[in-house]
This record gives sequence, structure tokens and C-alpha cells, in this order.
Amino acid sequence: MSFRPRGGPWGPPRGRNDNNALHQLFAYLRFRLRAGNAHGLHSPFVYNLYTTVICHDGAFAAFAPIEARRRALLASPDRLTVTDLGAGSHTGAGRVRRVADIARAAAKPPRLAQLLFRLVNRFRPATVLELGTSLGLTTAYLAAADSRHRVVTFEGCPNVAAAARDTFAALRLGNVEIVEGNLDDTLAPALAALPGPADFVFFDGNHRREPTLRYFAQCLAHRTDESVFVFDDIHWSAEMEQAWAAIKAHPAVTVTVDLFYVGLVFFRRGQPKQHFTLRLEGPHDGWI
Ligand SMILES: C[S@@+](CC[C@H](N)C(=O)[O-])C[C@H]1O[C@@H](n2cnc3c(N)ncnc32)[C@H](O)[C@@H]1O
Repeated sequence: MSFRPRGGPWGPPRGRNDNNALHQLFAYLRFRLRAGNAHGLHSPFVYNLYTTVICHDGAFAAFAPIEARRRALLASPDRLTVTDLGAGSHTGAGRVRRVADIARAAAKPPRLAQLLFRLVNRFRPATVLELGTSLGLTTAYLAAADSRHRVVTFEGCPNVAAAARDTFAALRLGNVEIVEGNLDDTLAPALAALPGPADFVFFDGNHRREPTLRYFAQCLAHRTDESVFVFDDIHWSAEMEQAWAAIKAHPAVTVTVDLFYVGLVFFRRGQPKQHFTLRLEGPHDGWI
């Protein structure tokens, strides 16, 4: 499995002042030393999840049009004036950015977005939240996994949100609603307005300790024992590492799965509290 520091094509843009690459390198080495596979996985729930969802390598019909949209965005000559409310605001990235650069830097790579698709496909949540839309590529995967569920996605930059709406229209996704504005202001009222619980939440905006834990606490109040939370970039920085440690330690959390770039969180009642660090094998080995 190869290591690529977050930033550039793999995450929030990296700028001159970014000291996170070194942190990520050591975190990755630590991960590689600790990560296991299906062998010796004694939890039937995690064994089944690992072998049939995490390491699944099949293609679904929904993937091709979303990847065609990604290629179109990567080839786009357009530029956007970007208001960055998250951790990327410290990177020195300019306010005017090429759409192609945003698609390369912010969107989850296909294999990761496809893992989210499979998770939604497996757990069949009625309501999916995505904190951090960007151009809407991962939202499209979350929405395409089941057209009967509702996806609510949050984006702080109005111009980026407009580009995401174009993605949803191009892919004819009728089950997505985008909430525009700072998550600090929009998340609580959106959660309060949900008709049911927050069944599946993908945390991918504002990669700092305090807001990550605050958004986690807000979503916790709306979870059930069956909810699934997915945190992106858990080893991106020392701050995100601290946030991930606090999330794992939370009394409501029973099972966590660290896949390095994302962390999966479960609240299943009756399950002993256990933390798994797992690597992707076979055709997936080397995708991140
Ligand atoms: C890493 S990108 C999301 C990528 C997207 N989930 C995907 O995989 O295609 C993070 C996004 O979160 C947005 N964001 C960051 N902080 C925010 C905040 N406080 N409120 C609302 N949006 C925020 C940024 O504008 C950016 O578009």
C-alpha cells in the first residue's frame, strides 16, 4: 500500500505553512505496523463488514456516470471564487481556484467514495448527512446508493454549492438537499428539522479538533444505536488525531474501525467496546 500525504489530490489543499505532511507520514507508518486483516478478527460484525463491504471490489452501475462527472470537473477550465470556512483556510490557497484543482484536492478518491456507497448500501439509512459537500462527487455516491433515502449535505461556500447543484442535476439525483452556510450555524437547525434520526453521517468539513468534536456532539444527540458515523482524515493532523481519540473514548461509541483515511464509528448496543485498525487487501491494496 502506498502512502500519499493528504493535500494535493488527496485532501484539503496543502500550502506553504502546512506542517501536517510529516505528521501523516509517521501516522501512516504507525498504522501499517498496527493494521490487521480478516485473519484473527473475532468480532462477527466487524468480520462480516470487513470481508463483504470494506474489501468488496465489485463495480456498481451507479459508479460510471459519477466518475464521468469527475472527469468533466477535472478537465474544466472554469474558476470559482472560494470562501473557505474550514481547515483549508489556513493553507494559503488563493480565493480564486480552478474547478479542476478543487475536484483533484477536495473530493474523496473513487475507491473511498465507493466504500461510502457500499456502507450506505449495506446499512440502508433513511437519512444520510454529509458535512462538507465540495463539488458533490461523494454526495453523488451517497445518494446513488439508494434513491429512497434522503441525503442532506452541507457546504459553506455559495459558489462551490452552486457547482455541486450542477453535479446533482447532471446526474439526475432527486434525493439530495444542499444546506448552504457555515456548519457552525446550519448543522443544529438542520438536525432539529430532520423527520427522524441521523442514521448515517459523513464528517468531511472543517478538519479541526474543536469543530469536529462539536459537530460530533450535535449529531450524537440525533443518533440511534444503529447509526453509522464516518470521519474523514482522522490522521490528517495532530488535532484530528486528538479528535479521533476523543470520539473513540466517548461512552456512546462501541465499535470503531480505523482504515487510516477514514474512521468508522458504531453505537451498537450489546457490543463490547472495541477498536479495530484494518488494512485493505487484494485489489484495494495500494489505493490510498
Ligand atoms: C474536503 S471538502 C468535502 C469533499 C466532499 N465530501 C467530497 O468528498 O467530494 C470540505 C468542504 O467543506 C466545506 N467546509 C469547510 N468548513 C466548513 C464550515 N465550517 N461550514 C460549511 N462548510 C465547510 C469546504 O468549503 C469544502 O468544500
